[in-house]
Amino acid sequence: MSDLPNRKPETGAFFARDREWHAPAFTPGYKTSVLRSPQRALLSLDGTISEITGPVFGHSTIGELDNDLIHNFAKPGESAIGERIVVHGRVLDERGRAVPGALVEFWQANAGGRYRHKKETYLAAIDPNFGGCGRSITDEDGHYAFRTVRPGAYPWPNGVNDWRPAHIHFSIFGHGFAQRLITQMYFEGDPMIWKCPIVGTIPDRRAIEQLIAALDWGNTIPMDARAYKFDIVLRGRRSTMFENRPEGN
Ligand SMILES: [Fe+2]
Repeated sequence: MSDLPNRKPETGAFFARDREWHAPAFTPGYKTSVLRSPQRALLSLDGTISEITGPVFGHSTIGELDNDLIHNFAKPGESAIGERIVVHGRVLDERGRAVPGALVEFWQANAGGRYRHKKETYLAAIDPNFGGCGRSITDEDGHYAFRTVRPGAYPWPNGVNDWRPAHIHFSIFGHGFAQRLITQMYFEGDPMIWKCPIVGTIPDRRAIEQLIAALDWGNTIPMDARAYKFDIVLRGRRSTMFENRPEGN
């Protein structure tokens, strides 16, 4: 079972989401939030055993190149164009405990700011050797890592002249559906971060700073790639299962 580090289920319920910390659903400066946000008060439902003990992923779920966006869509012997980087960090819960066996998925534009998607209309060129998505499973210490190229900024139809700063999208499945998180990572020192209407929906500057990956000089690979460090915090459990307490009681 060492291949499935989160196989042993914990049954403690999760903390509720802190809605003061996350961006509100209705933020007119980010135009598509207007139609997407709920119009009525939210209902709170208790989690059941199936939501708080799954899903479960193991390292065998992952292919050899899944965490290498420089090569996972490239022709043999070729590689994606752009600034080569390593992105790594730890997935932790609210108590600072590692979340092993979490599925971390990521997707991004290419070095010119272009997505490979049929609805993408930006005029920057497609890179035939870059697909733009990959995945990784966290190890026993909650650590994940992948290689990629630094994505470019791109314009989008929101206001008259809005641009997204360079960013990588993340989806994380932790140990239960309450630990699902979808977020975006930005790059230290990018002045575009502070002009972005989506970033601007986040009320607390400290919450924005948590989304900015630090240049991690210590893990730079000489003559190859710079490193960025991005830790991700998921909801924690309110309690942990005791060995002598039968499940379901
Ligand atoms: Fe994007």
